[in-house]
Amino acid sequence: MLGSQMIKSQFPILSRRVNDKPLVYLDNAATSQKPQVVIDAISNYYTQHNSNVHRGVHRLSDESTRVFEESRNSIASFFGAESEELIVTRNATEAINGVAYGWAAQNLQAGDVIVTSLMEHHANFVVWQEVAKRTGAKLEFVGVDDQGRLKLDELRQKLETSPVKLVALVHVSNTTGTVNPIKKIKKIIANNQKETPIRLLLDGAQSAPHMPINFKQLDVDFYVFSGHKMLAPMGVGGLLVKKELLESGEMKPWLFGGGMIFSVLPEATEYNPDLVERFTAGTPDVASIVGLAAACEYLKTLEMRKVEQHDRELVLYAIEKLSRIPEVKIIGPVTPAQAGQSLDRLGSVAFIHQTAHAHDVSQILDSEGVAVRSGHHCTMPLHTHFGWQATTRASFSVYSSKTDVDALVKGLEKISQVFK
Ligand code: ALA
Repeated sequence: MLGSQMIKSQFPILSRRVNDKPLVYLDNAATSQKPQVVIDAISNYYTQHNSNVHRGVHRLSDESTRVFEESRNSIASFFGAESEELIVTRNATEAINGVAYGWAAQNLQAGDVIVTSLMEHHANFVVWQEVAKRTGAKLEFVGVDDQGRLKLDELRQKLETSPVKLVALVHVSNTTGTVNPIKKIKKIIANNQKETPIRLLLDGAQSAPHMPINFKQLDVDFYVFSGHKMLAPMGVGGLLVKKELLESGEMKPWLFGGGMIFSVLPEATEYNPDLVERFTAGTPDVASIVGLAAACEYLKTLEMRKVEQHDRELVLYAIEKLSRIPEVKIIGPVTPAQAGQSLDRLGSVAFIHQTAHAHDVSQILDSEGVAVRSGHHCTMPLHTHFGWQATTRASFSVYSSKTDVDALVKGLEKISQVFK
């Protein structure tokens, strides 16, 4: 069972005490903890194989190259993508910037429209503001309803009436937990395709850790993720790009230098025809890639289908428990979008405490050993839209349990006593 003592024991940091209380870590949307297998994989790489890749014929370089390639293959396979479709980045933010430099800068011009939404994390918002400034493209935002769901009619209307070239949307919101209906979104886009295709970017920073992702089946043009939110080290993530966009040159490299070249002469440089190498300029962070591959293997053993089911149960349990505290107002979807459907929410439950400020809430929870995040969670446009100054968020991972949620609830009940 996920969330069990056995799973918790595989994450060394979870045995720590904080303020003399057992640590209850509920800040997984900010970053997840790392299992021993990931820590060991990184340590093993540095103690056994460390050497630069693709650059030497000696034994260590050869081993390092093999480990690097196997790790890349394993990560791509975890996401149901081909190895060539995976461009390793530092995180989701860098991956979105990669689309800005490698795709938008080549394919957008003044008058084109980029559509994003009010529920985006800053990485999928600020980047497009900057691209709009630089290219002269117009940036438009799809709104959200009272439960934090994307207004699909607004998306449809924008696609019908404007020359949209890119739709950039979050898959699972880091604030409301809303899971966007990708099939419906794709259908709306398909119904409005014109001569120049509309490309779809999905920000998967909060979906990759919580649900099975198959890039082929998702059938989006770009999917981005951060390793550190899915049990891997910080500083490694990825951009998945449909192979046809890479092969046709619609998506171009945006980092240049050694490793991505075929031949270099003073007059001109020819880039490597191999797609993986063409998008790998400079020495890669092999150890972190090895760590990410170990995290993918670990999650595969747990089975992402079960991870999603576990997460759904925890979200529902947290909603049920928190709604019993009169001062707590849960934000985001609390009832299914349509009767009979499961709740379209994953990963986290954020709320407003009506008598205590979010920062006081998280400080008092910390004194009880409970780690949550308070603030705007890098979604200022959403907070401003709803008039929230700050919210408090509890977010889950494979080791989170109902007992953790109970500890949160106990802490919140104390807060309600203090801030009457
Ligand atoms: N995007 C991260 C969060 O939601 C940092 O906390």
